[in-house]
Amino acid sequence: MLRLTSVEASYGHVKALRGISLHVGQGEIVTLIGANGAGKSTILQAISGLVRADSGSIAFDGQDTTRANSGQIVRLGLCQVPEGRQVFGSLSVADNLLLGAWSRWSGANRREVLADVQDQFERFPRLGERRSQPAGSLSGGEQQMLALARGLMSRPRMLMLDEPSLGLAPIIASQFLAEVSRLRDEGLTVLLVEQNARAALRTADRGYVLETGRIVLEGTAQDLLNNPEVQRAYLGKGDDVWA
Ligand SMILES: Nc1ncnc2c1ncn2[C@@H]1O[C@H](COP(=O)(O)OP(=O)(O)OP(=O)(O)O)[C@@H](O)[C@H]1O
Ligand SMILES: [Mg+2]
Repeated sequence: MLRLTSVEASYGHVKALRGISLHVGQGEIVTLIGANGAGKSTILQAISGLVRADSGSIAFDGQDTTRANSGQIVRLGLCQVPEGRQVFGSLSVADNLLLGAWSRWSGANRREVLADVQDQFERFPRLGERRSQPAGSLSGGEQQMLALARGLMSRPRMLMLDEPSLGLAPIIASQFLAEVSRLRDEGLTVLLVEQNARAALRTADRGYVLETGRIVLEGTAQDLLNNPEVQRAYLGKGDDVWA
């Protein structure tokens, strides 16, 4: 569904991605593992059209999107939930969801969009209960749910999540990842960047390990969980409480 071939990207003179080749199949959850600064967010930004690739190519659903802009990419069905949630704090929960439908908004589909808002409130009842509250008054976990629900308002076929559990209590974070699994079971394809590598690999089907802008290892989530190098560098002592 998504394929990157030899993608290079830089910020000024700083090379951030070096020959990145990866793919995400329809209906898979794929995770990117790597230390701070390894290039995980840059990969998502390059796919979203927010960072330009210096060379290499990116294709989504068989279409070349290497030079597409972010609006075109959202319209193709690929949506990124940004790091740090970035909900509109002074707007209500419901208005945040409506804004998530910007890419398909027209007077003619007003009813369809409003019905989708209702669907999100059924999926996330806590958001429904708080529909008129300013988004800034929600807890961190609720804001993350809102950011996810807002992304779903574009009716994506593939979702990219950048550190969705940042700053969340472990129980809330694992509930969030359970929701991501449920969405995959409903047919969504997911590219997940997650600070907690163990939780990410338990949620994902496959993963790629990044070091300073390069992919150094790839495999099934199970193989990576069992890999001694991955265990030593990214999985800590196995003392985390995530499910
Ligand atoms: N806007 C920017 N301007 C200049 N350099 C940047 C910018 N964004 C990222 N970089 C650099 O590019 C490299 C990759 O950063 P990136 O944000 O992709 O890493 P990451 O794997 O997402 O890290 P983290 O786990 O900390 O989020 C780093 O060396 C970083 O300093
Ligand atoms: Mg990042």
